[in-house]
Amino acid sequence: MNETLYNILTRRSIRQYQQKQLKDEEVQSILEAGQFAPSAMNQQSWHITVVQSKEMLQKINGTCRAVFLKSGVKNMEERGKAENFSPFYHAPTFIIVCGEANAIAPQNDGSLALGNMLLAAHSLGIGSCWIHAMNYVFSTEEGKALKKELGIPEGYVSVGAAAFGYKAGESPAPAPRKEGTVHIIK
Ligand SMILES: Cc1cc2nc3c(=O)[nH]c(=O)nc-3n(C[C@H](O)[C@H](O)[C@H](O)COP(=O)(O)O)c2cc1C
Repeated sequence: MNETLYNILTRRSIRQYQQKQLKDEEVQSILEAGQFAPSAMNQQSWHITVVQSKEMLQKINGTCRAVFLKSGVKNMEERGKAENFSPFYHAPTFIIVCGEANAIAPQNDGSLALGNMLLAAHSLGIGSCWIHAMNYVFSTEEGKALKKELGIPEGYVSVGAAAFGYKAGESPAPAPRKEGTVHIIK
């Protein structure tokens, strides 16, 4: 099997990370892969925030916890109470992708960029996991203040985020693929 297909088939979401930080050149390669994603009319409408500062990671975690605790959603409240709470699994690098709201397809552009970054990380032996929490968190008052503090420009909407780091353990086995999701018309 060719290397690219093998990389796609063997990537898994990783939920346990070493605390050792990634090398700058590895992060740069991941970011370059993200920025080479296709985008509607080549607008490259993404804005990518890389967080590696322990202080900022703690701040993001604290804001997520506070938002989860008052979400009114039972399972989020339960998660928020956990002593070891971290929606990004204590990964040392957290990447947030936003998209220019007025672009043609910011959600699609940004998702492809993030997808490329997950695959690029895997090709370098680095674990990753898409983290949905920020989409909800950024819609709250606390989250909007955090978005500002992170330097995300006005007019950019949340697309997705992902944890990145060296794996602390084995990759899980892939879930079986659903049947009947493809229809080929010849
Ligand atoms: C849009 C999206 C949101 C996701 N959000 C989360 C999340 O918040 N937390 C998490 O642990 N995994 C999250 N995941 C990862 C999925 O759970 C994972 O991709 C799926 O279970 C398949 O496993 P695999 O990535 O190992 O193939 C998300 C994935 C996508 C595409």
